[in-house]
Amino acid sequence: MSENAPPVVELVNVSKTYGRRGGGVRAVRGVSLTVAPGEVYGFLGPNGAGKSTTIRMMLGLIAPSGGEVRLFGEDLRRNPSVLRRVGSLVDGGAFYPFLSGRRNLEVVAKTHGGDGARIDELLDQVGLAKDAKRKVKGYSTGMRQRLGVAAALLNDPDIVILDEPVNGLDVAGIQEMRALIRGLAADRGKSVFLSSHLLHEVQQVCDRVAIVSKGEVVRESGIAELLRQDAGLRVEAAPLDIAEAALTARWKVERSGDALLVDATKDEAPEVARRLIGAGANLFALAAEQRNLEDVFLSITQPEAPDA
Ligand SMILES: Nc1ncnc2c1ncn2[C@@H]1O[C@H](COP(=O)(O)OP(=O)(O)O)[C@@H](O)[C@H]1O
Ligand SMILES: [Mg+2]
Repeated sequence: MSENAPPVVELVNVSKTYGRRGGGVRAVRGVSLTVAPGEVYGFLGPNGAGKSTTIRMMLGLIAPSGGEVRLFGEDLRRNPSVLRRVGSLVDGGAFYPFLSGRRNLEVVAKTHGGDGARIDELLDQVGLAKDAKRKVKGYSTGMRQRLGVAAALLNDPDIVILDEPVNGLDVAGIQEMRALIRGLAADRGKSVFLSSHLLHEVQQVCDRVAIVSKGEVVRESGIAELLRQDAGLRVEAAPLDIAEAALTARWKVERSGDALLVDATKDEAPEVARRLIGAGANLFALAAEQRNLEDVFLSITQPEAPDA
């Protein structure tokens, strides 16, 4: 992919009101975001935040009330054929329960013009090769989701859009899905856009994230950047009283079990160490606190967190 390739997805001030204007539900309110080629992009927010509505607009399944959806630089409304480069999994995918996984993919390939020759390769890629002949009604939720991903990949898309791909999966299923998603980006150079209400998932799998709340993107950022924000230093020292006194002279200090949480930046770590040792404390550990995406998420979406 060339350096100046257009964004894979570009939403410009996209909004959606269900029902009558005024009395309707404003599900999405002026969302703008950009997905770069090869990126795994997370769309994170609590239930009802507008994730599925946004995804449906990205796929041309519903029309935006305002704004513009661009895929690979093309306006989706003017050039819907650009959807040939897009694969998707929404609502967990729909399959015939009485047909095998393989047969189901053949049906999808026939009805949606995918490449049936790739079916075996895809079944292998999503880890279903040995279950390909079993009827889908005997599949676990995880297997169905992975079959859904295989179906989404049939037309060899450049981006795969997945709405809550780990919903309903057990721990093993989540791990398989995670590996599959990372593999799509790392080994196959595809872009992935996925929605989730699970912070942990997004944190593990995505390069960049938009946090959405009540139909609005409240933050768009690289995961690393989001987590790098100073969360203070964690100090283990003894005697704790002496250590605390030495540090409160300069920083806000909080006790956390046997440790101290110091509201200092990483750049100030040497100064923290000098003060502790100067005061006669023994320093056992000094580390920058890793900020959890959950903290960031809660600090942003706190007011509606209870029903998330
Ligand atoms: N077809 C619809 N008709 C009316 N309201 C809808 C429809 N689909 C979703 N909504 C409402 O839009 C809001 C956003 O829903 P949705 O996009 O499904 O959020 P999410 O996927 O983040 O859970 C919610 O208030 C939901 O009740
Ligand atoms: Mg949804």
